This record gives sequence, C-alpha cells and structure tokens, in this order.
Amino acid sequence: MDKVLADLIRISNIAGRDSTWVQGGGGNTSAKTDDGKYMYIKASGTALKDMNERVGWRRQRIDDVLSVIQDEELAKLDDTKRENEVMRRLLEACEDDVTSGARPSVESHLHAQLDKYVIHLHPMVIAAYANAKNGKGQLDKLFRNEKYPPLWVPYTDPGFLLARRIAKLTGQYKEQYGRKPSILILAKHGLFVTADSADKTLRIVNKVIKLCRSKLGVLKARKLKPAAEKDITDAQLAIRRAAFEVAGQYLPVKYYKPTEGVAAFMARKDAAKLLRTAALNPDELVYANGAALWLEKAESDTIIRKLKSLVQKGQKPSMAFVVKGLGLFVAAQEKTAPVAEEITNESLMIRMYAAKFGGVLALTKREQDFINNWESEHFRKTLVSGAGEGEVKGRIAVVTGAGSGLGRSIALGLGRAGAMVAVFDIDHKAAKETVEMIKGEVPDASAIAVSSDVTDEISVAEAFKKVVGQWGGLDILVNAAGVAPAYGLIDLPVDKWRLALEVNLTGYFLMAKAAAKVMIGQGMGGSIINLSSKTGLEASKNNTPYNATKAGEIHMARGWAMELGEYGIRVNSVCPGNVFEGSKIWNPEYIKVCAKKYGIKPDEVIPYYVDKTILKREIKGQDIADTVAFLCSDKARTITGQTVVVDSGQVMVR
Ligand SMILES: NC(=O)c1ccc[n+]([C@@H]2O[C@H](COP(=O)([O-])OP(=O)(O)OC[C@H]3O[C@@H](n4cnc5c(N)ncnc54)[C@H](O)[C@@H]3O)[C@@H](O)[C@H]2O)c1
Ligand SMILES: [Zn+2]
Repeated sequence: MDKVLADLIRISNIAGRDSTWVQGGGGNTSAKTDDGKYMYIKASGTALKDMNERVGWRRQRIDDVLSVIQDEELAKLDDTKRENEVMRRLLEACEDDVTSGARPSVESHLHAQLDKYVIHLHPMVIAAYANAKNGKGQLDKLFRNEKYPPLWVPYTDPGFLLARRIAKLTGQYKEQYGRKPSILILAKHGLFVTADSADKTLRIVNKVIKLCRSKLGVLKARKLKPAAEKDITDAQLAIRRAAFEVAGQYLPVKYYKPTEGVAAFMARKDAAKLLRTAALNPDELVYANGAALWLEKAESDTIIRKLKSLVQKGQKPSMAFVVKGLGLFVAAQEKTAPVAEEITNESLMIRMYAAKFGGVLALTKREQDFINNWESEHFRKTLVSGAGEGEVKGRIAVVTGAGSGLGRSIALGLGRAGAMVAVFDIDHKAAKETVEMIKGEVPDASAIAVSSDVTDEISVAEAFKKVVGQWGGLDILVNAAGVAPAYGLIDLPVDKWRLALEVNLTGYFLMAKAAAKVMIGQGMGGSIINLSSKTGLEASKNNTPYNATKAGEIHMARGWAMELGEYGIRVNSVCPGNVFEGSKIWNPEYIKVCAKKYGIKPDEVIPYYVDKTILKREIKGQDIADTVAFLCSDKARTITGQTVVVDSGQVMVR
C-alpha cells in the first residue's frame, strides 16, 4: 500500500477514535502523494475510525479538483445546479480501483488547496468559540503569542463557495505571514489543520484542542434525582404523539439518562433561552433537525404547538427534546437516533460555553435554507438512515405467541411491512429465534424478544414496560398466544379446560387491557387484532375449550371495538382456517385425534382439510400475516369490530 495512504488511514483512525475530536462521526482527512499529483481523501458514508485499506477513501487527481474552484462558469449557476455539478466533477476526478461508488468527501476541493496532510474536525471545544459571538476575540487572545496564528474563516455556505473563500483567505494570509496557515478555524463549522507530515498534523490538532480547552473551565453538574419511570414513559408517549402530528411519521422515541452535560444544562436558568436559537452548524441541522426543544413539562399539546411554530417559521421540527428534570429524548429512526443524541449532547455543551463568550452564534435562516437544499448533505443523510418502507412503516407492534406458528408468521409479516416488532412468548428461546428470523430477512428491522406469560398480569405489565421503554410507544397488538387442548366432552380434564380459558381468554384480555392503556395515553389511535379461528364461528367436534374460547375472543373484540373507538383504536378478529405450517397446535398427537375423528390415516389429514376449502388451497402463515398487516394499516381505517375469515373459503360470515 502507498505509504501516504497508510499514513492517512492511521491518522484518520486515531482522530476518529477520540471522542473529544469527533462528534457524530463528523470530520474528514486527506493526504497528497509525494509527486503532488494525487490526493487520497476520506469518502462520504464511512466514519474516520472505520477507514481501512479497502474502504472509506478515494484517490483524486489534484489538478482536476482544483480546476473546479477556479471555474468561473460554475460560479454563475444557481446553488443546487452548481453543487450537483461540483459533486459530479469531484467524482470524475477520482482515479482508483474503488468500485463501491463511494463519493469523495464533499469538502475535497477545500483539502486540495492545503498542505500535504489535512485533518478536518468539528470538535466541541472548537465550536465553543466558533459558535460564540465573541469567539474570534477569545481565539485571538489565546493564540496571541503564535508566530502563525490560526486563520479565522467567517461562516460561508459549504461546498464550492466555502472552497473559493478559503482560497482567497489563505492567499491573503500568505501575503501577510509569508506562508499558508496550518490552522484554520471556520465559524459555525470547525477546525482544519494541515502540515507536511502526518505526525505533525496530529500534534497540531492536539495542541489546538488543548489550548482551546484550557479556557473553557468546568461546567458544574448538579446531582439529579433519578427520574420516575412513569414520568419518562409519559414523556416518551407525549413526544411520540407530537412528532406524529407534526411530521406525520411513526417514530420511536428513545430516552437517554442525563450525562453530566445534560444535567448541567437542565440546571441552568437560561436553558430555554439557549435552545431558542437555530442550529449551530450544518451537522446539527442535518442530523438533529436543529436545536433540541426545551420542555419544562412533556405535554403533547405544548410540544405540538412548539413544533408547529418552528415549522411555520420555515424551520424543521426538532428531533431532540430536553425535558427538565428528566433528560434527553430523541424521536428518530433507531439507526439515526444515536447520531442525533451525540450531536445534541455536544450542542448543549457548546451552547453553555458560547454563553460565556458573549452568546450563541447560530445559523441564520438563509444559511439554514442553503443547507436544507444541499444535495450533498441530503446524500450523506440517506446513507446514514437507510429508511425502510412498508404499509405499517415505523409502527410499534406487539405480537404474542410469536415464538411459533401463526404468531411467528405475523411477527415476520409485520416486520416485512416496516413495523418495529416486540416478539412476546413464554418460550424466550423461541422468541429470540423469531427476532433473528426477522433481522435475517429485513436487514434494517427493529425487533426485540420479550419473555412474558400472557396469563400473568405482572408479567404482562413488565413486558409492556420493556417495549415502551425501548421505543416510546405502541400502535399494534396482535393476540396470538393460544392453546388447543382437543378432547371429547366426556374425556376433557378440567385443568385442560381451565388452561384454555386462561391463555385464550384471560391472556387476550390482559394483553388488550395493558395495550389499550398505553394507546389511550399516547393518543395516536391503534389497532388490536384477536387471532381467533374459523372454529370461533363454527364449532368443531372434540374441541370444547377451543370452541368456547375462540368464540369468546371474537365477541371480546367486538366489545372492545365499541369501548375504544372514541380513541381511534380499532379492534378486529382474524379467523384463520387450518394452518399447518410451523404450528405446534398441529402436533402429531392432534393430527392423530383428527385422523380418528374422520376415520382416515394421519398423513391424509392435511389433504383432507385442504380439500374442504372452496379454493382447494392450503393456507400459509403469510396469508394470515398479510391480512393482519392490512387490518393494522391505514387502508383499514374504517374497519373495526369486524371478523375477517382467512380460510380459502370454508366458513362464511353472515
Ligand atoms: N394453526 C392453525 O391452524 C390455527 C388456525 C386458526 C387459529 N389459530 C390460532 O393461532 C394462534 C397460534 O396458533 P399456532 O398454531 O401458531 O400455535 P403454536 O402452538 O405453534 O404457537 C403458540 C405460541 O404461544 C406461546 N404461548 C403459549 N402459552 C403462552 C403464554 N401463557 N404466554 C405467552 N405465550 C404463550 C407458545 O410458547 C407458542 O410459541 C392461536 O391463537 C390459535 O388459536 C391457529
Ligand atoms: Zn466540516
């Protein structure tokens, strides 16, 4: 490997692993070959710490990169056209064996103008100055004894315009100091360090960060009372509902226990004021939708009002929320939430420090608009988020008995349809297998295994706590955990009868009770499905407990539909015909009972049942899952209290 590339990977990894240097994966690096012809540059979409011999970089022809910023024709184009064209040319300037299509950093034309090695970062300690009204004055003082002080770059729209401005400013610097700067501090953006050796570049970064940190002082965090679980849950539900109302998206809401920084922030009298500013920098705007929202109390109506007023002002609705006394909440897809959390945490620190240096300097409306329209940033974001689609996209679903049979098929089907699925089962190992299956099929899926006994109210409560704690809400409940003890009336042991009542009726009831409470509290409606059976409509022989309970489930659903309609919660029953695939109910013993009932051989049982259907078609788990996904989706918005039979045509509801 080229030694220059090896050096680049080394310094990138060192920089990327230091959490005081890099926040939210931001930053990029480059290194030029000895002949000055080529530049290795970090590629978009890979974090510095993950760069290696194979991924995370591109090699560009320096002349071609520089020709982009010298092109006066480009300067005449409008923003979007220009940046698209610039990106195309930066990509065209690549000459390497990389086949992944990874794009070179959107800041490569800036790198091309600097010394041999370049490290560019957005560290919090630099932003404390770069985002403060008196930040430049403070820096001048800090570096007053330096022969070659940092070059201060006033905020400039990123991309082509910034690269051109840097060209102009470094030229002026050279005239004044006899050489180009090795330290550049960009207002509302970050730090560039450049030198002729890899180690020297690292040393300078270290020195600048240390020096800047030395004047920041320590932020005092007050000891916080641990927040009550219920307050956290209520806040999650309120935020989720508000995000849904304003952004129209089903998003999980994650709670983060307060770090020292968040605790210090919440204790400040000026907390609300510090968050009343716009995004500090492009990263906060792109990855956290701007500043976090300050909430004295997490009430959904207040949050909706505040988010709507942001939107009316042409800003994006916040994704992060600081609730006084509780901590930080993030409403975002699971994959993007950690970045938003990290950036928000840092931004809270920056705001506190900037307050010391004359106040917070945030992006103006025009600067934000530029970023929002910026194709390259958009591209970076889509690379990180990997958004999924589906008819129940982002909805939080609980499926009981999902460790086997139909429950498992439904969990898989909802996962495919975009839901986040909590797999409930008394058999935890089986539940975990289902989770693996979902993740195996849907790479971006969110799924968790929750062990719970649906007949035990305490166990059910614990299980819901886990789901709501994890994702911050609930949209769908599918009751599928069921048993089918098959005996003739005079042989039926009472304990088997009682078991069926417990699982099939008490279990459905306890789950629905707990789910409805969460759904009502959340205020976003919801969908409950009781998985009954065609046997719930038409009795079958030697099946007393099943006949009774499956009919009971349908009728319970009807009653619940009447009670819950006013909250927008729909309740329906699905009645599958015989589904043999993956079912433990259809165990060899049960099949034998059926064979005996009809006077046929056990291996004739499945064909016998299929033959009874109008369509002569075996019903599979997916058929039931599709029906459930439909009933849970908005397409079924006017369907409630109904019974849908999925049996290839055997029983007809009248
Ligand atoms: N398979 C069919 O032909 C068919 C037809 C119509 C309706 N159904 C209904 O579908 C549901 C599932 O049936 P299946 O055939 O897939 O059964 P299954 O036995 O394969 O799966 C049932 C699952 O429920 C779990 N479970 C049992 N008791 C539990 C409890 N107390 N708490 C939590 N989990 C518990 C089991 O561990 C198992 O994983 C039942 O309600 C059944 O009535 C099945
Ligand atoms: Zn940058």
